[in-house]
Amino acid sequence: MIDMHTHILPGIDDGATTQEEAIMLTEYLHRQQVTQAVCTPHFYPMEGTMEDFLLSRSKAMEAVNHSKVHLIAGSETYLHKYLFHYTDLRPLCIENTNYLLVEFPDMKVWNMEYMNELEEIIGYYNINPIIAHIDRYKPLMRSRKLLKELKLKGCLLQLNTSALSDSGTKRRALRLIEEGYVDLLGSDCHNLSYRPPNIKEARKIIFHKLGEDTWDRLMINAKKVIEPKNILESPKIIEAVTVIEPIKV
Ligand SMILES: [Fe+2]
Repeated sequence: MIDMHTHILPGIDDGATTQEEAIMLTEYLHRQQVTQAVCTPHFYPMEGTMEDFLLSRSKAMEAVNHSKVHLIAGSETYLHKYLFHYTDLRPLCIENTNYLLVEFPDMKVWNMEYMNELEEIIGYYNINPIIAHIDRYKPLMRSRKLLKELKLKGCLLQLNTSALSDSGTKRRALRLIEEGYVDLLGSDCHNLSYRPPNIKEARKIIFHKLGEDTWDRLMINAKKVIEPKNILESPKIIEAVTVIEPIKV
């Protein structure tokens, strides 16, 4: 199993605070049969430089380099105008790929500027955005039109596994998976207390409600994204990740 969104790395953001906690998180993931996890610490372009972030990330990666789970460097990059001061965003992408986990500033209101910024990431930087935790954005969860628009632009959509165990979001999350909107899953784990990794529970729910094939599709997508050979020249990733059925508009 692959976890596409984690805050395992110690002392870099609001995730694990110590090396011990980070190792406990990886052991917890290992017990859930997670073999690979993408480390996606927050990067806020308005709070610090990319260089400092990358340095902190590489130190934090070293602290957990004996983990039983294969850890892959990445980031959860906050969409902000300062991001566009950089000439290259590839260092923030999932290691050796051009996939970038992106989060929006506002969870309650949809800002049309987001689409323009995503277009710039795709068109100018030749980066494929993965929209982090779509379940946390009310406008996205309520609008298939917006979700379609994002997918047609070339974004992949990631759902947090916690959305499947939360009674407020479970039905809608399952429906979006069933209809093919969700491309990737991630635990977005921060700690073992109130934001633990819960991939195993999500697997059980998906198996039970949607069947094994659906789970396999999501894991195959994850595998395709993290495989370095899938670095694309073209930002049109819908065609590249062939197992994702295109949405009919
Ligand atoms: Fe996150």
